[in-house]
Amino acid sequence: MGIKILKTSSYVPGEPIDNSYYVSYLDTSDEWIRQRTGIETRYISKDEGTETMSVKAAEKLELTDEEKARIKVVLVATTTSTSTVPINACILQGALGLSEDIYACDIGMACAGFVAALRMADALLKEGELALVVGVEVLSKMSDKTDRSTVILFGDGAGAVLIEKNDKESYFEGGSRYSEVLASKLLPMTGDVEYLTMDGAAVFRFALEVMNASMNNLLERSGNSYDEIDWYILHQANKRILEGTARKFGVSPDRFPMNMNKYGNTSSASIPLLLDELNRAGKLKRGQKMIMAGFGGGLTWQAVYLEW
Ligand code: COA
Repeated sequence: MGIKILKTSSYVPGEPIDNSYYVSYLDTSDEWIRQRTGIETRYISKDEGTETMSVKAAEKLELTDEEKARIKVVLVATTTSTSTVPINACILQGALGLSEDIYACDIGMACAGFVAALRMADALLKEGELALVVGVEVLSKMSDKTDRSTVILFGDGAGAVLIEKNDKESYFEGGSRYSEVLASKLLPMTGDVEYLTMDGAAVFRFALEVMNASMNNLLERSGNSYDEIDWYILHQANKRILEGTARKFGVSPDRFPMNMNKYGNTSSASIPLLLDELNRAGKLKRGQKMIMAGFGGGLTWQAVYLEW
């Protein structure tokens, strides 16, 4: 048994902020940002936190009463939670009026968080039950506005999916490695604001390494060749990471859809934001084969093979 994604939705706060905003006060250029990252705009929250954005994204799923009654698992992937307590998943439970006999949990696995949540849903769900899984971030709160190497990268947003068990196998891969290359100091949960710092080039190399290894393992375990996968839906950190992976696999970049040009790197939210965009455009067809993979802070990585 594996998991099937039934519905998708997403929410981003405010208006898009384009690269010229950063060019206005930092030593950078629109050309550098576009060429080195693929990012053109991103959405930055003024006053909405993870709890508000996850509810807004989930409401856009337009859940029926029958679906709400079947939801037994609520998972919110986030590394930038607005509150420590109550957790986002319980806030979501209350906002949607879900019953109390559910497993509600926040998951902090940085940019691998959404796929990690799918993996947890796969383990927890029983036949006939539904899981609500959300990826949500306000990374702008962790970005040092004066650091040109990080502030240009990150955006805020939320994506939600509704999941059920099905009879097609899903395969998961992943791992963790302690390293200071992403956050070079420990970011506190509360107290004074501390900013994320990272060795971008080292994270870049790490991403190529773990994407390649985990996707190869998924292909082998699911009995597929590179070409048999319809969609490679990867964490939207940098277009050069995705282009490099597509080149390595010898697969057309068209199968590696991207939307970091609009949203920047939204960590846990990037994969569900992209899924929703493709789904609403009618591009995802039932039965299509898909690999989703996220990588990021920790370091962590998680990947899944499933059929749409
Ligand atoms: N504008 C102009 N120049 C910039 C810049 C900016 N916004 N940011 C960095 N630079 C400069 C650096 O200072 C450096 O200058 P130097 O050579 O004089 O020292 C030069 O550009 C190259 O820096 P480098 O970090 O090697 O660039 P890069 O090509 O690796 O691109 C990232 C930087 C961050 C875009 C890229 O490494 C990346 O995307 N890495 C992955 C990040 C990631 O995914 N993080 C989150 C994990 S989910």
